[in-house]
Parts: sequence; C-alpha cells; structure tokens
Amino acid sequence: MKDENVIWHQHAISKQDRAQQKKHKPCILWFTGLSGSGKSTVAGALEYVLNEQGVHTYLLDGDNVRHGLCKDLSFTDEDRQENIRRVGEVAKLMVDAGLVVLSAFISPFSAERQLVRELVGDSEFIEVFLDTPIDVCETRDPKGLYQKARAGEIKNFTGIDSDYEKPTSAEITLNTSENSIQQSVEQLITHLKANGVIS
Ligand code: PPS
Repeated sequence: MKDENVIWHQHAISKQDRAQQKKHKPCILWFTGLSGSGKSTVAGALEYVLNEQGVHTYLLDGDNVRHGLCKDLSFTDEDRQENIRRVGEVAKLMVDAGLVVLSAFISPFSAERQLVRELVGDSEFIEVFLDTPIDVCETRDPKGLYQKARAGEIKNFTGIDSDYEKPTSAEITLNTSENSIQQSVEQLITHLKANGVIS
C-alpha cells in the first residue's frame, strides 16, 4: 500500500537522457513459456550476442531471482502473481536506466504479463513466447522436475497441476522444437533491428 505522504521526486537526469548514452534503445524482452521450453537458454544465447555488439543488457532469470529478491515466494497462483509484479518493477527500473532487459520467467498468467507491458512505453515491451509443447518440455526435463511432478513430489507444477495461459498476441513466437537456438537468436536479432532497438 503506497503512503499518501510519499511523493514522486523528479530527478534532473531523465530516462531519455540515460538512453541517449547508449547506442541502442532500452526495452524488455519478456520470455514466457513452460518449464523446459528454452527461455533461459535462448535468452542467455541472445544476451551473449548482444554483449558482443556492445549492447548493455541484463538477464533476469526465474530460478536466480527466486534465490534472492523473491526467495519468500512459492508457486501458488498468488505468489507467482507477486513474483511477476516484483520482477516487472525491477525490469522497469532497468529500462529507466537504459538497458535491454531479458527476462525469463514462466509468467503463466496473461493478466500479470499485461501489467508488466503497461509499466513501460508502447514499444518497450516485447513478448517472446516459447511455444514448446509440454510433451517436448517433459522429454527434455533438464532438472528432473516433470518426473518429480508426475510422481506427486512437486505440487502446483506448471502444465500439470498449475495453469499456463498461452499468449495470444506475442510480438515474437519461437518454435524451439524445430528451430535451433541459433535460429531463434537470429529471429530475435532480426526483430530488434527491424524495430530500431539495435542497429
Ligand atoms: S513463475 O511462474 O513465473 O513465477 O515461475 P518462475 O519464477 O519463472 O520459476 C520457474 C522455475 O522454478 C522451478 N520450479 C517450478 N516451475 C514451475 N512450477 C513449479 N511448481 C516449480 N517448482 C520449481 C523451475 O526450475 C522453473 O524454471 P524453468 O527455467 O522455467 O524450468
């Protein structure tokens, strides 16, 4: 709850001033998809390429953020909503600082993804849907979590006993079952160039 006596302070240096220090435009690339869909892998590969080109990035990753900022949160619907609210605010601050933010969270609910979209400017939120079918994710099972969820050892597991609402108007949809990581990265770079984020 915000206190009415807390008043916004407008500092001398603006978001636009900070952005002008960079050769790219700030934005959030919001990767969403099931566990094992390839969010962290593709985001990490893209971040590598962007860094080689001198783009100032930061990768916010669900597993890592849940070790610190969000370590008090579980996987109930309510806690996932709070997780995305917090991460969205952090991503907004990073956009304010002039960065290209890559965020890799399951972010299963459309409403929270929409809330984050509305935190930044019109062209600053790029939703990237990892449209990997659950059977492919389950076959990959890189952390053995699907096996545990099927055995009833993990509750509220996305796609099994917790919902995932597919995006209906993502800016980019990636097919990681058919395309290589490199092809997905190229698809993303093409979009970023076409939209003037990088040159
Ligand atoms: S969410 O829904 O956006 O709040 O989830 P997120 O913060 O991205 O965390 C997802 C990672 O947590 C691990 N994990 C689980 N995922 C889904 N459901 C349950 N119950 C669960 N328990 C642990 C898992 O490693 C997820 O990472 P990814 O990279 O998606 O596989």
